[in-house]
Amino acid sequence: MKIRLRRTNESDLDFVLGAEQSAENRIFIGAWTREQHWVAFDAKDLSHLIIETIEGKPVGYVILAGLADANESIEFHRIVITEKNQGYGKQALRQIKKLAFEELKAHRLWLDVKEENARARHIYKAEGFVAEGVLRDCLKIENGYESLFVMSMLRDKYESRFINKQPSLRIAAPEDAEEIAAVLAESFAEHESSYTAKAYAATVPTVDEIKQRFGEEKIWVALSSDEIVGTVSIIDKNKALYIRSMAILPEARGNRIGERLLKEIENYAVACNYQKLSLNTTPFLKRAIRLYKKFGFVRRGAGDLFGTPLLTMEKSLKSAAKFKREMKK
Ligand SMILES: CC(C)(COP(=O)(O)OP(=O)(O)OC[C@H]1O[C@@H](n2cnc3c(N)ncnc32)[C@H](O)[C@@H]1OP(=O)(O)O)[C@@H](O)C(=O)NCCC(=O)NCCS
Repeated sequence: MKIRLRRTNESDLDFVLGAEQSAENRIFIGAWTREQHWVAFDAKDLSHLIIETIEGKPVGYVILAGLADANESIEFHRIVITEKNQGYGKQALRQIKKLAFEELKAHRLWLDVKEENARARHIYKAEGFVAEGVLRDCLKIENGYESLFVMSMLRDKYESRFINKQPSLRIAAPEDAEEIAAVLAESFAEHESSYTAKAYAATVPTVDEIKQRFGEEKIWVALSSDEIVGTVSIIDKNKALYIRSMAILPEARGNRIGERLLKEIENYAVACNYQKLSLNTTPFLKRAIRLYKKFGFVRRGAGDLFGTPLLTMEKSLKSAAKFKREMKK
């Protein structure tokens, strides 16, 4: 299930304190009073965030510190996930990295983690954090001392995460609906003001609408490090294969994922003897139009989607199919 981050507010305090003080969590983290959490909501140097599902159910919280640090080194101070081993922790880490490096312009994101906290160390390592060293016996506990591992990620590592990595493509399943909806929402967000409200709602479908599409459409996704970074779907329209809902996350663009998705569709269309590919786009999606043209699509007409101008583009597959038949002879 997909999660999102939002600012913590006073009505979340019982949830936060309950999560922090529960036996399974408190052995691994520090504890604040209600007052300390409350003060943190407005502190300039801190970010106190609730981790919740798309449906709005809280599943954890996170605190970032050092937002105003002169060395641009942001501390990932605390994370607690209340529903463990469901992938929420890893997903939250990805969003925290994005927030720290893209929005807060961090150069370094760092944390400390208890040596025996194997699960947390596992997800930090899996998400690209590197161990910097051990603060040996730095914590005094009831019956001895505990050590802390310091781990960090630098900006260049974050920025290189999609470079030179060829994402894998696969056919999507209904379980991917939430991630697909999120990719569409994130990818079209920058153009929202160019659409009418109705046209935008049609361009960025809800999770349920995506789930319903699985009956009549074939949907592909592109994955990078297990994360869906791109998607496209097709519908049969007689002799043409109609392409829609194509989107690549902004940070994954420039890696030829769009081209590979189109190639995958073309191969499928040729194998199924379709005679053309068709799609609708809008004149302001210039980057997409460039890609379609480069791939051999030509303009065929104009239309309108709830007051937003549409552009129809097509690519004939007759020659590709003929070439394929001749190669087989
Ligand atoms: C640590 C924590 C944030 C992780 O969140 P989560 O939602 O449980 O994590 P995910 O489900 O995304 O991932 C769990 C991963 O740990 C692995 N894991 C589970 N138990 C493990 C263990 N004992 N040792 C090593 N790895 C373990 C899982 O296999 C999974 O990895 P995979 O996806 O590669 O198979 C959460 O468990 C938590 O709140 N723990 C208590 C508070 C805490 O420790 N905070 C961090 C302080 S530094």
